[in-house]
Amino acid sequence: MAKLLAVKPLSQLRKEASEEGEHTLKRSLGPVNLITLGIGAIIGAGIFVLTGQAAALHAGPAIALSFIVAGITCAFAGLCYAEFASIIPIAGSAYTYGYATLGELVAWIIGWDLVLEYAFGAATVASGWSGYLLSLCEQIGLVPSPALARFTTTYGNILYFYQDKWYPQVSLPMGVSTAGLPHVSGIFNVIAFVAILAVTTILVIGIKESANLNSAIVMVKLGVVGIFLVLGVNHLIHHPELLKMNWHPFIPPHEGPGAFGWQGVVAGASFVFFAYIGFDAVSTAAQEAKRPQRDMPIGILGSLVVCTLLYILVSLTLTGLVNYRELNVAEPVARGIDATGIAWGGLLVKIGAVFGLFTVMLVMLLGQSRVFFSMSRDGLLPKWASAIHPKFRTPWISNMVVGTIVAFLPAILPIGKLAELVNMGTLLAFTIVSAGVWILRVRHPDLERPFRTPLVPLVPFLGIVSAFYLMLNLPLLTWIVATAWLIVGLIIYFTYSVKHSKVQQLSVVSTPAANRV
Ligand code: ALA
Repeated sequence: MAKLLAVKPLSQLRKEASEEGEHTLKRSLGPVNLITLGIGAIIGAGIFVLTGQAAALHAGPAIALSFIVAGITCAFAGLCYAEFASIIPIAGSAYTYGYATLGELVAWIIGWDLVLEYAFGAATVASGWSGYLLSLCEQIGLVPSPALARFTTTYGNILYFYQDKWYPQVSLPMGVSTAGLPHVSGIFNVIAFVAILAVTTILVIGIKESANLNSAIVMVKLGVVGIFLVLGVNHLIHHPELLKMNWHPFIPPHEGPGAFGWQGVVAGASFVFFAYIGFDAVSTAAQEAKRPQRDMPIGILGSLVVCTLLYILVSLTLTGLVNYRELNVAEPVARGIDATGIAWGGLLVKIGAVFGLFTVMLVMLLGQSRVFFSMSRDGLLPKWASAIHPKFRTPWISNMVVGTIVAFLPAILPIGKLAELVNMGTLLAFTIVSAGVWILRVRHPDLERPFRTPLVPLVPFLGIVSAFYLMLNLPLLTWIVATAWLIVGLIIYFTYSVKHSKVQQLSVVSTPAANRV
């Protein structure tokens, strides 16, 4: 039992931190850079794609309330992440926090669980990216032939050809019948597959994460969201009758499990929670922050606040412009702008989304490689997972293995199912991180905490309860798949990792009680 509770000594963590190149970066990031970093990782497929699906299937116009519920849940977890990031300002995020405080088994569970967040998250975004790219191509006249169209969507998904565009049945404009429309059945989403391979190649070659590039892409994303809001709100001011039509009732009557009513609002929150994922990426930059104690919470919570406000405004505008029942499409934000009648607006949104979503995939797969790299360095995964390419100086084998496997996910699985699994994994990580902060306060009340989560144990408790409540609102199938994933992880841990763990081989095994600073 003591073995499973073995913690990684903080002294060891600090030593490693000073050895690794990526950790010796200059402390150059201020609060604004950190907020920008967070926004760059957060805004993606969630707002550009899933909002439409969530409004159409779960909450209607009340999807704005779902965003508030999901945002509050993230704020509780964000406060807990901020405390950990200030105590252990080292890349590796929740996995490292777990290892230093709650012991090896919990660390393993978080690390394995983070695959659901990062790797499956990248797959989800790739699926959304392919939808926007296809729609962009169609808008500029590059319409795939029926033979090619079969390779633009997942297996078995039927696409109908209507007015020079391919539509899944649920996305056809209201009132259009499928009878008599030419159609094809999907085989494999090659666009999403290639997108992941392209991102993987960039990661292997080693793109230098340039703050300027990130800032430029963030500006593009914020610009697109801003243009959408200006054009959309302006249109609604001139056509107030649209609001009367589309916002009534604001919370549509309950129609069945997870569909509309207050239950739909919560189910919608569990779904759009995906849109907030990424703020924890700020915590991995703790060592590059000029004043991590002050700036980590500002970066994490600041990016959360900005995104929450934007998401509420976008969802209100979108459901005002287009009836929620028509929003289950691959590019809902573009469809919203199309409703204003401004032809270039949709084109602009699609171009912005194609660039913006690409960087989210990059951040997620980078996060994945950092976690596997740390786990392999600790001996919990085989050595090849942290093997560094002699020329590119990147964990290339790990990148290639993960990238190749992940590429198949969006090619064969629908975006909604992927997103639900990602949400389950991330909510579990939030639960453990919140519990970790609480446990650490009890075990080590005197530990130096540059940033303290306010109102402990209330905030961690609410973090655990709200994350768990959103998990409960995810479908049974998601629970089954996530449980199976964790069981596979535990089998690997007990058959491989526990025998190769470096921490276990330290002369004195540290236990949580021993890890004082
Ligand atoms: N929050 C990120 C997105 O919405 C993962 O794409």
